Amino acid sequence: MRRPMVAGNWKMHGTRASVAELIEGLGKQVLPSDVDIVVMPPSLFINQVVVGLEGQAVAVGAQDAAIQAGQGALTGEIASTQLLDAGCSFVLVGHSERRQLIGEQDEVLNRKFAAIQESGLTPVLCIGETLEQREAGQTLAVVGQQLDSIIDAFGIDAFANAVIAYEPVWAIGTGLTASPQQAQEVHAAIRAQLAEKNAEVAQGVRLLYGGSVKSANAVELFGMPDIDGGLIGGASLNADEFGAICRAAGN
Ligand code: 13P
Repeated sequence: MRRPMVAGNWKMHGTRASVAELIEGLGKQVLPSDVDIVVMPPSLFINQVVVGLEGQAVAVGAQDAAIQAGQGALTGEIASTQLLDAGCSFVLVGHSERRQLIGEQDEVLNRKFAAIQESGLTPVLCIGETLEQREAGQTLAVVGQQLDSIIDAFGIDAFANAVIAYEPVWAIGTGLTASPQQAQEVHAAIRAQLAEKNAEVAQGVRLLYGGSVKSANAVELFGMPDIDGGLIGGASLNADEFGAICRAAGN
């Protein structure tokens, strides 16, 4: 059985004061013990969150990492070994905001994915189609290609220690959610694509859904057979709402 996971991607939100409030709010939540819970603050606040959540069963992740695992002359970047040292366990790679707004492409994303794993952290690979691509019937091809980029570079075993987040771009921050059936269809296709190479890896890998997940739709989404939890944006900035979403992933 795959252990469910809920990760909160805080994106570029927060101040020291608002982060302190969120930490306090998370501390008051009754969180399920059968779900891996992760928060991913802006890197600036990772230390504050690690210290603030000490003793709680909430892991900390980063939203990005450098193209190399170790320290070096790379202005403005943060190495995944530094993230590990700071207390992180997971790192997002390939979020659509970085693909689209920063222009990150497969070659860079592959290097980041490898660097994250090399340092001992777990990458959370984000994949998903735009509205135009969905309307053109290209969803499974687009998502399949994003997945193949990693498989071709590193082999299927790369997914023995990775998480995949399916985030349809049209559902991110829009209030539009993929229906549980729409999401399940893509998740099943992702797992089938992995299973063609290695059935055991495919069965073990956690597939999260992301895109306007709230407590009101989480139970239905997380109830689908190939949806193993969620990657939460806006709703993760509200401790009560995030707590409710985490509980929705528990059994
Ligand atoms: P929203 O939950 O705000 O739609 O964001 C989803 C997301 O991009 C998480 O990485």
